[in-house]
Amino acid sequence: MRASGGWALRHFLQVLDASRDELAGIIDLAKRFRRGGYVGQPLRGKVAALLFEKPSTRTRVSFSSAVLRLGGDVIYLPSSELQLVRGEPLKDTARVLSRYVDVIVARLNLHSSLEEIVNYSSVPVINALTNLHHPCQALADIATMHEYAGGWRFKVAYIGDCGNVCRSLVQMCALFGIPITVASPKKYWLPAGEIQQYKEIASLAGGLLEFTEDPKAAAADVDFIYTDVFVSMGMEAEYEARLRDFLPRYRVTMKLFDVARPGAKFMHCMPIKRGEEVEEEVVESSRSIIFDQAEYRMHTSAALLAWIMGRTS
Ligand code: CP
Repeated sequence: MRASGGWALRHFLQVLDASRDELAGIIDLAKRFRRGGYVGQPLRGKVAALLFEKPSTRTRVSFSSAVLRLGGDVIYLPSSELQLVRGEPLKDTARVLSRYVDVIVARLNLHSSLEEIVNYSSVPVINALTNLHHPCQALADIATMHEYAGGWRFKVAYIGDCGNVCRSLVQMCALFGIPITVASPKKYWLPAGEIQQYKEIASLAGGLLEFTEDPKAAAADVDFIYTDVFVSMGMEAEYEARLRDFLPRYRVTMKLFDVARPGAKFMHCMPIKRGEEVEEEVVESSRSIIFDQAEYRMHTSAALLAWIMGRTS
């Protein structure tokens, strides 16, 4: 399908919606934005709608700032203030928004709702987090790792809940051939079919994907130890059960870094529940690169927007 500007209409619902070369190009552009600032106004005259069903600090502000820095305008649309809350169907909302704006950035509870928007949208749709995927987070994660590692040779351990952040990080590492080991109680692992699919992608790219229940084995000899909250938004009813399953074994501690490479860094998508998935001491230590990681959300969002709207040149 061609969009009105003559470029191909693309959406970014999960990491695998883009090729490795396309993602590498987005990361390269993000690095140029970080180093050289935001020259030119590639989104001048363009309007982005940020349709959010859930709270957000990083995603909302980084996308908004990115659009403004690229010369465009942003309309923030909490779903609670749209006719959606009174039962207007998503398929109508998607078609109406497509007449007003040039790109839809959506944070929705259900991935299936995002797919419904895509089915009816005539403008690019970007996933700003669903229950299944958080691809924009993974873009910032891999760009941050690439910068700290000075290239593509590094190893990653992900410790904790295998939710949307883990899935997107695994997809990203698999595509780039980056070895990654996920440590989590077995009942939280990604579905077996998905693990197999990502293992095959990793193998083709020269990487390796492993799942284990042993955080120490996962962290051995890695350059980055990554975690996320044990109880994501919308899972509050499972709070006690999840803490029982994850603690204390899966908390990232200073001690865990003893088995990692000497300069290993700590990463977290944020927000953090200090004392649950990670010790406060780790968060505040020199190993922690969480604020560079958070900053990259803006640069990778800007680069993604420029790419998806055909405005990279
Ligand atoms: N990491 C992340 O998506 O943060 P927000 O929920 O604040 O957007």
